[in-house]
Amino acid sequence: MRTHYCTDLNENNIGEEVRLVGWVNSYRDHGGVIFIDLRDKTGIIQLVADPADSKEAWEQADKVRDEYVISIKGVVRDRGEGLHNPKLKTGKIEVVVKQMEIQNECKVLPFAIGDKNVNEELRLKYRYLDLRDPKMFEIFSLRSKVSIAMRNYLNNHGFLDVETPVLTKSTPEGARDYLVPSRIHAGEFYALPQSPQLFKQLLMVAGFDRYFQIAKCFRDEDLRADRQPEFTQVDLEMSFCNQDDVIAQVEGMVKAGFEAANQTLVTPIRRMTYHDAMEKYGSDKPDLRFGLEMVDVIDLFEDSNNEIFANIAKDQKRNRFKALKVSGADNHYSRKQLKELESFVRKFGAAGLAYIQVKEDGLKGPLVKFMSEASLQQLLDRLKPEVGDIIFFGAGEKKVVLDYMGRLRIKIANDMNLIKDGYEFVWIVDFPMFEADDNGNPTPLHHPFTMPNMDTWDEENFEDIKSIAYDLVLNGYEIGGGSIRIHKEDIQEKVFNMLGITQEQAKEKFGFLLDALSYGAPAHGGFALGLDRFIMLLSNTTNIRDVIAFPKTQKASCLLTEAPSPVEKEQLRELHIRVKLPQNEAN
Ligand code: AMO
Repeated sequence: MRTHYCTDLNENNIGEEVRLVGWVNSYRDHGGVIFIDLRDKTGIIQLVADPADSKEAWEQADKVRDEYVISIKGVVRDRGEGLHNPKLKTGKIEVVVKQMEIQNECKVLPFAIGDKNVNEELRLKYRYLDLRDPKMFEIFSLRSKVSIAMRNYLNNHGFLDVETPVLTKSTPEGARDYLVPSRIHAGEFYALPQSPQLFKQLLMVAGFDRYFQIAKCFRDEDLRADRQPEFTQVDLEMSFCNQDDVIAQVEGMVKAGFEAANQTLVTPIRRMTYHDAMEKYGSDKPDLRFGLEMVDVIDLFEDSNNEIFANIAKDQKRNRFKALKVSGADNHYSRKQLKELESFVRKFGAAGLAYIQVKEDGLKGPLVKFMSEASLQQLLDRLKPEVGDIIFFGAGEKKVVLDYMGRLRIKIANDMNLIKDGYEFVWIVDFPMFEADDNGNPTPLHHPFTMPNMDTWDEENFEDIKSIAYDLVLNGYEIGGGSIRIHKEDIQEKVFNMLGITQEQAKEKFGFLLDALSYGAPAHGGFALGLDRFIMLLSNTTNIRDVIAFPKTQKASCLLTEAPSPVEKEQLRELHIRVKLPQNEAN
């Protein structure tokens, strides 16, 4: 039906007869001559219907309204001196319409195509109209290019694309499962996979050596701007490898994806230990597009005349005293704004926010009088502040201090516009194997099949045990993670013991994996890239929904199809299910 897409045309086509199809983006009647902006996935071109050229075509043009689907035949011409529109790719030319057919009409739109100021719920209800915007098409075209480039990279490096089941058993990524009731097995359920983790390990036991899959994963967890209940991983696994081997392949793959998006990525990507990331940036996904490193100053408060500070400094394993020097902050923040910063950190458990302002006539701020002369001097030597700087302090229990100081660091960088453009990747390595849950018991930081670094194994101090796990971080987002796996039964048992998982429980939940490990499992490890997050960052958006064609809302609903929704009683009966709603929802 067409000879060209709209924006394929340019000055070189002047004089040519062309056939175009698309949607009426807008139309205007200028004293009897009708101008139509015709749009397809590539963008817009101007059509001109003049009764002097073709009365028939003009009559059709007179009937079109926004978003009608039309096809035309016409001739390309220069718009003429002074009439060029530099904002449009096709701004120098227009097509004089000789014939026009209205292929379909369109009801009054709920919002104008491309209008991103309407509320997102309306956009999601009519997602197909929202996606009609060529800017949206650009995002999905980028997504397609990037994922094909990564797929090709993996294919060229010996990774086999294998599909793993979606109706399966609970997998161990730690979120809540989506369950699917079984009709045939009354009272039993499948779980949708949180990742293909267990199956990809089984493929290594099978000797497939290298596997990949662009896999849908399902997690019923609290949603945030960078999380969806169903999302996509570029998932891979390889045998006879160590951490460096996996990292090298992931870097190759990410680089291929990056290049497909016309970006360059210099490899190897820098690495940082989990310990350093937490201590310097207060986060295991540090945004390195700006500096603002936290500095340890706990030793400078051992001799403080303030009892609370001196007490904090007594337990340097449990507590932290961190300083964050912010150049020029004194000129940026008013007294009132400094109060607001304090309220901000209080939300995350801070008792307050102490600071020292570096003024022409010396150091100002309540903390000054709590430090000895000698300690104050050491502080200056350590931080080398200049006039106009503010040094912020966080003190108290380690986890709380690192968290709120890390958040403060990001807030200040945003407030003061310190975040550079561009992409800053970092590998976070040497993760702890376990962390303490609310009751002080060990839970796995990744999943329980992650290989511990056995040199650090210490039954008494589980928080000091390191794992061979690595996360890939981009601009402050965790875009992927992986690990070397346990491939020996005895180590797996040790880990289960530590987690308080009994042999029976382990057998019931992951018996098939444990069995497989006892049949000659090779050393293996892998990684999964969060494709949606990666594309979100490459598209310069902070909303993961922008890069998913049919996303769910923060409340996990699809406004377009109205899923989830009630089902027929008969369906429930077949599934042996009776629904009991919470009291307040019963009617
Ligand atoms: P992990 O749980 O770290 O690892 O997931 C890998 C990556 O998937 C992305 N991701 C998400 N993206 C959108 N919405 C979500 N709800 C969501 N949850 C996770 C993140 C994350 O880094 N099986 C392991 C990988 C392995 O060890 O090989 C796993 O799933 O970008």
